[in-house]
Amino acid sequence: MLQERIEQIMKEGRESLATVSTAADFEAWETRYLGRKSELNEILKGLKDLSPEEKRLIGPLGNRVKQELAAAFAVAKETIFERNIDWEAERIDVTAPGHPIVPCGHLHPVTLIEHRIQDIFLSMGFSIADGPEAESEWYNFDALNFPKDHPARDMQDTFFIRQEKKSQHRFVPRTHTSGVQVRYMEAHKPPFRVIVPGRVFRNEATDASHEHTFHQFECFMVAEEGMVTVATFKHVAETFFSAFFNEKVSVRLRPSFFPFTEPSFEFDISCVLCGAQGCPTCKQTGWLEIGGAGMINQHVFESAGYRRGQYQGFAWGFGVTRLALMKYRISDIRLLMSGDLRFIRQFQQ
Ligand code: PHE
Repeated sequence: MLQERIEQIMKEGRESLATVSTAADFEAWETRYLGRKSELNEILKGLKDLSPEEKRLIGPLGNRVKQELAAAFAVAKETIFERNIDWEAERIDVTAPGHPIVPCGHLHPVTLIEHRIQDIFLSMGFSIADGPEAESEWYNFDALNFPKDHPARDMQDTFFIRQEKKSQHRFVPRTHTSGVQVRYMEAHKPPFRVIVPGRVFRNEATDASHEHTFHQFECFMVAEEGMVTVATFKHVAETFFSAFFNEKVSVRLRPSFFPFTEPSFEFDISCVLCGAQGCPTCKQTGWLEIGGAGMINQHVFESAGYRRGQYQGFAWGFGVTRLALMKYRISDIRLLMSGDLRFIRQFQQ
């Protein structure tokens, strides 16, 4: 009898559990089948009054049913909770665009060009050197063989810094990166090949192609007499520009004058905008003016404390800003230093 009743409870319990759907129904079911006053519990409590044979039969059976119903209840409860989840609200659209992240800065176009140039020269075995932007007149001019009070100093439209005390050397916002040649030579012994990226300043009227502040690269290579020649320079320049523009670029030299080189050249590269066919940028010549160059004047070596005639090398200077304008086809140089974010943000990578 009792055994049948327990089996009956088991069956009823399972069946009614399948129809339970609200939290209240759940509680009621739990009280009814698993509660302290549930019929099953009452039966188990009454075990002590049964005969030993019945005890042996009913005890294990009752306990097993109790455990099974409890397990079924736990499973059902979990399922019911899942049934109540609003899946639509929980859905994650993995294709939705993300939240805008905190705005993050990026490199200036001139810096991007500088890095590119440095990578190419590093791959050619050059070192990178640096010098101060406020340069003594000695390194900027005297050591480079600019005669005192000579019009050559005006060649570069120098800004002068007002100084309280008349010290031995005046300082200037450097007009070119060539001063670093002597600084480097003082600290190193040839052979060496070096580039010097740097910001330079000139007292110029500004227009679409002139700016008072711009960036240059100095490039120089020095070794024992006879090792580094004009041909070396031309080869280095052609190799560099071909790598920079990703196409075969030729270099042309024209005679010029700089106090710190002898002989001196202006150098042009074949126009990369029109494939040297002639366009407005190259003024229909097929050539673009890029910078100055020459074989380092022995006076410069002497300024650095080298013995005259012991070494030979080339020096070369070119404008990074110019290259940036060409590479990105920017029409007005003033945009670069304008600080206008609408312009700068176009170079985010
Ligand atoms: N320093 C020169 C200039 O800025 C360029 C130059 C560099 C010329 C090295 C010759 C050698 O105009």
